[in-house]
Amino acid sequence: MEFPVYLIGYMGAGKTTAGRLLADKLGWHFVDLDDAFEQIHGLTTAEYIRTYGLEAFRKKEKYVVEDLADTPYEHVIYATGGGYPCWEDNMDCLKELGTSFYIRWAPEHLAKRLSLTDLSERPVLQGRTEEELLAFIAPQLEEREPYYSQANYIIDVDECTELSDEQIAERIYQMIKNKS
Ligand code: S3P
Repeated sequence: MEFPVYLIGYMGAGKTTAGRLLADKLGWHFVDLDDAFEQIHGLTTAEYIRTYGLEAFRKKEKYVVEDLADTPYEHVIYATGGGYPCWEDNMDCLKELGTSFYIRWAPEHLAKRLSLTDLSERPVLQGRTEEELLAFIAPQLEEREPYYSQANYIIDVDECTELSDEQIAERIYQMIKNKS
């Protein structure tokens, strides 16, 4: 298996939570690329999108991911921003840089999970009810699916009747252990 590992998927899929748990289990480093973006640009991804717009954000986000791939640590788990893999050739970049895991949920479950979180840090979803979230997420997920599904491995959460973040981390852990 090629290192580093990238966790991809829609907002609310558990990339950050499962990624941290996974990195702990493996004793690897964990980097949330939204946090890295904030450290580099001095604005959260939400603030950046509100100030400069989504297009400008995507351009900067691309460089953050590519620059950070040049790390002295071989064993790193990266949680990417939800839209990153679906912009320009980003999915090809991920495949060249390392191994990607797509945490796949049905839109109904994502809408439910996201409705239970503070959406103020997610400008594209902010202010929407669970029903409105579903109406927004379902078509966007359909557009993003062809990119996400190019991942090296897919964790189909819904087929397993909703795994917890710990179970998602355990799944990926076992996959990494078996492949390396
Ligand atoms: C986005 C997802 C966010 C963040 C930005 C845009 C998206 O990351 O990068 O708000 O378009 O899906 P998370 O998936 O980590 O929340």
